[in-house]
Order: sequence, then C-alpha cells, then structure tokens
Amino acid sequence: MIFSKAQHKMRLVSFVALLATATLVAGDGLDWWKTALIYQIYPRSFKDSDGDGIGDLNGIKSKLPYLKDLGVDAIWMSPIFLSPMYDFGYDITDYRQIAPEYGTMADFEALLAEAKKIGVRVIQDYVPNHTSNESEWFVKSTKRDPQYENYYVWADGVRGADGLIGPPSNWISIFRNSAWEYSPTRGQYYLHQFLIGQPDLNYREPKVQKEMKDVVRFWLDKGVSGFRVDAINVMYEVDPKNFGGKYPDEPLSGGTDPQDYEYLKHPYTKDLDETYNVVYDWRDILDEYIEKQGEYKFMVTEAYTDLDLMMKYYGNGQRNGSIPFNFVFLGDIKNQSNAREIKLVIDKWMTFMPSGKVANWVNGNHDQSRLASRLGTDRVDIMNMLALLLPGVTCTYQGEEIAMTDGYVSWQDTKDPQACNTNDPINYWKKSRDPNRTPFHWDDSKNAGFSTGNSTWLPVADNYKTLNVAAQMNSKKSHYQFYKDVAALKKTKAVREGDLDTRTFSQSILVLTRLAPGTPGVVGIVNLSDKDETVDLSSLKLLPPQLRVAASGVDCKLETGTTVNKNSIQVSAHCAIALQSVSNCC
Ligand code: NOJ
Ligand code: MG
Repeated sequence: MIFSKAQHKMRLVSFVALLATATLVAGDGLDWWKTALIYQIYPRSFKDSDGDGIGDLNGIKSKLPYLKDLGVDAIWMSPIFLSPMYDFGYDITDYRQIAPEYGTMADFEALLAEAKKIGVRVIQDYVPNHTSNESEWFVKSTKRDPQYENYYVWADGVRGADGLIGPPSNWISIFRNSAWEYSPTRGQYYLHQFLIGQPDLNYREPKVQKEMKDVVRFWLDKGVSGFRVDAINVMYEVDPKNFGGKYPDEPLSGGTDPQDYEYLKHPYTKDLDETYNVVYDWRDILDEYIEKQGEYKFMVTEAYTDLDLMMKYYGNGQRNGSIPFNFVFLGDIKNQSNAREIKLVIDKWMTFMPSGKVANWVNGNHDQSRLASRLGTDRVDIMNMLALLLPGVTCTYQGEEIAMTDGYVSWQDTKDPQACNTNDPINYWKKSRDPNRTPFHWDDSKNAGFSTGNSTWLPVADNYKTLNVAAQMNSKKSHYQFYKDVAALKKTKAVREGDLDTRTFSQSILVLTRLAPGTPGVVGIVNLSDKDETVDLSSLKLLPPQLRVAASGVDCKLETGTTVNKNSIQVSAHCAIALQSVSNCC
C-alpha cells in the first residue's frame, strides 16, 4: 500500500497517540507540561553523596522519592556539564560531558532512568549564548582553525582618543567591565556578555547554529523531556556589516558607575529580532521528538526583558516557540504589596499572554534572593499557593517549599564571580548570588544533612537546626505540609482546566477561584494584613455553598478538613488557605 506523505504523517501521529495512551496515564504524555510542577535543582547545593562538600547527581537521585512525594512533575537541573566552574557550570567546556564533581554520564543515565521509573521528568539546562574559554571550539577559534574561525564574536581593536588600540566598542559585560577581551594568540578581541571565561558564540555563523542543534538532539536522544534555555535575549549582537564594519558604541543610560552594565542602554546587544527564529527552530526539533518519543518536549526560555518582547518567544502566529519564564512575581511583587497590587501583577501576565498559550509562575531561582528573604517568611505560603493554583506551569526553586532564607556568606567565603568582580569587601553582597545558593536543609544533623564532608562549597546557613525538611515533615503544620497539600490540589481537574477568577475583597484579601463544570471548585484565599478577617464569597455565584479546607498555611487557624459556608470564612492574619467545594461546580 502506498501512502501520501500527509497520510503517512497522520498514521504516525495516531500511532504515537496510541502509544502515548497505552504507556502513559491519562492527561500525561502529550499534555503533561501544560500544568507541570517544575522543581529547580541547583546541583551543587542539593545533596552531596560522596562527602566532598559539593552536591552531585547521585545525591539528586537519592532524593527523587522526596520530590515525587512533594508532587513534582519534572526537575530542571542547573548545568551539570564539564566546566571550569568560573560561573558554576554556566561556562561549559563540553556540552556532551558531565562535570566530574557531579558524577559521570552513567550516573546521569541512572538518574534519568530512576526519575522515569517513578514518573519525574528531567529538563536539561541549555546554555547557547556562550561556552567556556576552555572549550575546544574556543581554543581552535583563537588559533583560526578554519572550521572554528567564526564560532565566536571576534573583532579588531580600535584606536581610542588616547592614540592607543583598545576594545572594538564601549560594550560592558553583565558581570562588569569591558565585554571585550584581547586574545594575544589570535591578535583580536572576543566578546563576552558575561565572564571573560564565557566567550559569546556567533549565531551569524551557520556552523554554530548547526552545532547547537546537534546538542539539543544529543540530550533528546538520551531521553530528556526538554530544556531551560539560558540568557536567550543576549544571543545576538548587531551585524557590523550594517555599521560600516564596526561594532557601534551603546548609548549612556545616565548611570554613574562606568564599569557597571547598567551604565549603558543595550540596543545593540540585547533583544535582537534574529533571536526569535532560532528559538522557533529549536521548537521544530523538539516537535520531531514528540513523534519519536511519544512525549511532549518542553522548552522554557530565560530573558529578563519587557513583556511585549517576552511574549514573542511563545511564537509568531505561524511558528511555535517556547514558554518564556514569567518573572513578574520576582520584579513586581514587594514585601509590602497589597492584594490589589498583586492582582494587577497576575492580570498583567494573563493579559499580555497570547490566547491559547500556557502561563507559568516563578517565585525564585539561583540568581535571586530567596522568596522568604525577599518578601518575608510570612508571605511564603501566600506566594507558593498563588504559583500553584494559577493556570499553567509552576516553577519552584529548591527550598521554597520549606521557606529557606538566604544564608550569610562572608567576603572570604564568597564564590559568585558577580560578587568577586566588584572587588569590594564591603558592598560585594549587593551583587552576590551565593546567599541563595547555600546548601539545602534536609535535617538538623551535620551540614544540614547535605553532606558528610568536613566543609561544604558554600557555608550552610545557620538557621538549619530549626528550618529543615525533617522538622517540617514531623510537625503538624509547616510550609512543607502546606506546599504539598496545595501541590496535590494542582492535580485536580478544576486547577488543571478550570476558568480563573481573581478578585480583591479589600486591600488585604485576594481570592483566586478555579472552576470547571462537573467537578469540585478550588478557591485560594490570601490575607495580607496582620489582622484576622472574615471573608464573604457569596458574590462568586457559581461557587457551591459549602467548602472544605484542603490546605491550611502556617498562619491559619482554620484547619484542614474543616467545612465552612462560603458566606463566612475566617481567614487569620497572613494566612493562605485553599478550599475545595464539597459539591461539584456549576
Ligand atoms: C543566567 C544564569 O541563570 C546565571 O546563573 C548565569 O550566570 C548567566 N545566565 C550566564 O550564563
Ligand atoms: Mg559530591
């Protein structure tokens, strides 16, 4: 029998669909990502299995049951690849090798197999903007090896007003100082938007595009479920061809510190239009694997940028793209934000997002001060609940489920290059990401149960004796218990598929409702004030009259299992509480 290409494709798709339904549970397989709970692991600081004070893959593997039990659908691990670790793995020597301090490829494969077995997916960090300066590609490029000559952004120096030859332009690195470094071997400057040890790849070179697509395929062939894409919006710089063969200087921003990235505006090094098509090309590769492996392949991109530019990553109408990380909770919610302000922040993303796309909610990552330190411990349950009950993907950074705070790291102990580059023993902490990368608190034993070693790569925060997983598992009420209860609600039909309604009842009461026909509705109520309040939800007409408390935050007096009437609900000061209607909605 001869099939047309279209028929063949149809058969293939239905075969894959069949396969997906046969081997994966309902709602899983092709749709898993749409409501996934993604847990970010910073491998160096999660769990050390061999006592060297550095977290590793076997450590992560040993904690998979903890993550599964918490309700996690997928883990995203910050980079685990061969690297000199100037930027702790974001400077990659070889995209296909595992860093020895984290383990071996066999360890990775064992971790992946174990994760699959228990139903946790693995998302790989993908760092396309730059490699390490120890990468073979870079070493060969400095020597003008014809295959690698244009792999990086090289330029001749230019003569400055002082008559001396200096960098090709005034561009500044995100990590301070000139973004250009001279290579005596090559006799030219190379661009590094981050560290000197992180040379930028040249995406105007087709060989680089191909090379990086092969990296995507390599990890998909291993069976990963997708990628978190690093620093996507600095991937391109302007083409000097359009500027008389030179890289143009960037305009001043009005800032005062000439070595600081913020001293300049970045029209020539950030958010360039060319970026989006590369993302859409990667999406096409991922789509090939949906058919091959019967599972949707996920891609989330990291760009700190304006909302309208952010939304372009979703696709352009003709082509699909990625999910852009939603950083509005990080940037726009403060420790004093009231209910109305928080509602507007939520609405902002939902309003800008193109219709039919999947939202996502992020409360932290390895580059940000921890949620509990940023907004206060009494807002952790609140923010976790919002991130878990809003539509779409939830991203949790390790430790948010127990309200871990930033640890103190002295100048002597400081490792983060962004802080070291300040050369300032007094003010370094303003730039340091080390406090939010201190080791995870498992229990109250030595090194918080993170490592049996005599020292750890960053000091363990001193509040670990009381603030740890074991203590919170054993206590009747804790951030952990609450997180887990709300994560379980995320799996209900109402939260997966239901309509969203957000309402403020006062400056301090925010109510989030998820309702779908034929199933109990879910309501999250937040009290941001330091006074107990009584909330009347009668104005939510479709919400059934009786509700049961499904998750009660650490500051709530109303306990799990209690039944209440919707017209009078006691919500204590700082309480985040989730309720499920006793009867089906609507
Ligand atoms: C963003 C990463 O999250 C950060 O940790 C890293 O330093 C830069 N990109 C450079 O790769
Ligand atoms: Mg180790």
